[in-house]
Amino acid sequence: MRSWTAAYVVRRIQKNGIDLSKISIVPEATKIPLQRIGTDPVPALAEMRAEGPLKKLEFPFNLRVFAVTGYEEARQVLADRTSYSTDIRHLFNGDGPTTADDIGGLGFTDAPQHTRLRKILTPEFTMRRLARLEPLIEKRVDLQLDALEAAGSGADLAKLLAFPVPFQTICDLLGLDYDDRDAFEKLGSARFDATGGGAGAFGAVSEQREFLFEAVAKQRKEPGPGLIGQIIRDEGDTISDFDLAGLADGVFTGGYETTAGMIALGALVLLRDPEHAKLVREGSSEDVDRVVEELLRYLTVVQVSFPRIAKHDMTLFGQELRAGDTVLCSLSGANRDGAVVGDDPDSFDPYRVPKSGHLAFGHGIHRCIGAELARMELRIAYPKLLRRFPALALAVPPEELKFRQLSFVFGVEELPVTF
Ligand code: HEM
Repeated sequence: MRSWTAAYVVRRIQKNGIDLSKISIVPEATKIPLQRIGTDPVPALAEMRAEGPLKKLEFPFNLRVFAVTGYEEARQVLADRTSYSTDIRHLFNGDGPTTADDIGGLGFTDAPQHTRLRKILTPEFTMRRLARLEPLIEKRVDLQLDALEAAGSGADLAKLLAFPVPFQTICDLLGLDYDDRDAFEKLGSARFDATGGGAGAFGAVSEQREFLFEAVAKQRKEPGPGLIGQIIRDEGDTISDFDLAGLADGVFTGGYETTAGMIALGALVLLRDPEHAKLVREGSSEDVDRVVEELLRYLTVVQVSFPRIAKHDMTLFGQELRAGDTVLCSLSGANRDGAVVGDDPDSFDPYRVPKSGHLAFGHGIHRCIGAELARMELRIAYPKLLRRFPALALAVPPEELKFRQLSFVFGVEELPVTF
């Protein structure tokens, strides 16, 4: 029963994307970790954290799902290398042409496959390798700021800055031909626009993945300068086109909407207080770094971790878990845990020196591999934006902004601005 219903839910997700507001069978309380009021998690999430470390969420069809909302507890679950699997690929193997192997990337694989694939990807994310992207990001941000200015008052910062910067950056990272990028972007936006979270968050099979598969096959003959070409040079035939396209797809899924959400929402938060905007515009690079970390914590755009499926029966924080139960770590809940964050965890404090590192990039073996790249983009984008347009302001009253209602990756649909 359980695997059928789970496969049904996943098929719905594949078809419609992960916008749980459209899946009426999900009870209200279960939606709490994915909901926001403006940029804040809903107060019920803090209540859930205060109630205890592990909360059973009411799911239909006997699905047993538990939420972890505290910082220390989320860290503990995410650091546990042996008790959980994130491999949900069997759910996609229900019927039709989809096979378990179709879903790629690191997020949904377990050791030893995860270890092998992550080792292949890691050298591409060292600061030395990423340094080549810095001037390209600087140039891309400048170009998009030109486009924003050209569009005039009311221009949409999300469309003209927040999405194109990570899109082009990942294309540069992967080493995709400029000629192919427009076509790729159209596939990408079809995949990500439709819903609150993007089917990609669950690695749904997509045309985009096929596009990457072709790009890998092309580079197999003529390896390019980016990640795909470098891995082909380093690994040769020991990595299949299939695995490499899966890795590229996972990188794309992981790095696009997340960074776009951060650029748009971060700009919005900075515009709320002229002193905060001034700090980024005129402050030192240390100031900017600190503000970026606080924005990552405060916004926590990846609201929940990949599902952790218990591999065996166990006791977690005093409750019995059965093999197959799902544990979700609420990263937005953990990052607002006053016990670790310090005073007033619900406020954005650009001078905050937190007691511990935030969990916006996760923790443990699946911790975000692109964290340093994301930081690089944000550290370039915010100061450039605020320096170029010192009078930048929202073009609409804040209450008219449309935030994603119920999504794994939080974001704002549009951000109209004036200069
Ligand atoms: C601000 C932007 C970003 C945020 C907030 C973010 C957040 C996260 C989080 C929370 C995880 C871990 C999920 C879990 O353990 O359950 C993750 C994993 C991952 N991220 Fe990011 N990410 C961002 C940008 C990027 C970028 C720029 C890339 C690549 C270009 C990327 C690629 C990945 C990949 C491949 C994984 C899976 C790692 C693994 O399973 O070993 N992310 N990200």
